Amino acid sequence: MYTTKSVGIRGLVVKKRFSELLDEVRKVVAGKGDEWGRLKAVCDLLYERVEHYDWVGFYIAEEGGKVLVLGPYRGKPTEHIKMEAGTGVCGRVAQSREPVIVNDVSKEKNYLACDGDVRSEIAVPVFKAGEFVGELDIDSKRASAFGKDDLQFLRQVAVLVAPLF
Ligand code: SME
Repeated sequence: MYTTKSVGIRGLVVKKRFSELLDEVRKVVAGKGDEWGRLKAVCDLLYERVEHYDWVGFYIAEEGGKVLVLGPYRGKPTEHIKMEAGTGVCGRVAQSREPVIVNDVSKEKNYLACDGDVRSEIAVPVFKAGEFVGELDIDSKRASAFGKDDLQFLRQVAVLVAPLF
């Protein structure tokens, strides 16, 4: 646990913003429309409201998690519409079932590039009833853009959207 002192006022502002965004994600998930549309709305929300999120998308697990297929996303179109577990950042998450943060994608060997402007990436697994069902993947044009607040926030988003998978 952080104390107020160690987090500082900027840390508190970040936490408050993420906490407010989680409420909005909850509303989108509980809202109208099909699952694809609501997941797309979550992508739009995160993309529009968090400055350092420059590509936000979901990958859907298929074949028991051996393959990932591109789902709803917001940002530049990507050529990576189907990926194998173990390959790339997302593929590593599919294999380990653990989140991955890459601070500098130019130094990462097991990385699938889709936009030359991207500097860092985070991917977080989504579980439904204990089963790996997909991932939330986010790119940033900033190096080292993703910290523990993002990780904590996106893990919570992954829990909230799980019923839509
Ligand atoms: N960079 C990802 C591929 C997906 S794009 O970021 C949208 C990876 O290495 O898995």
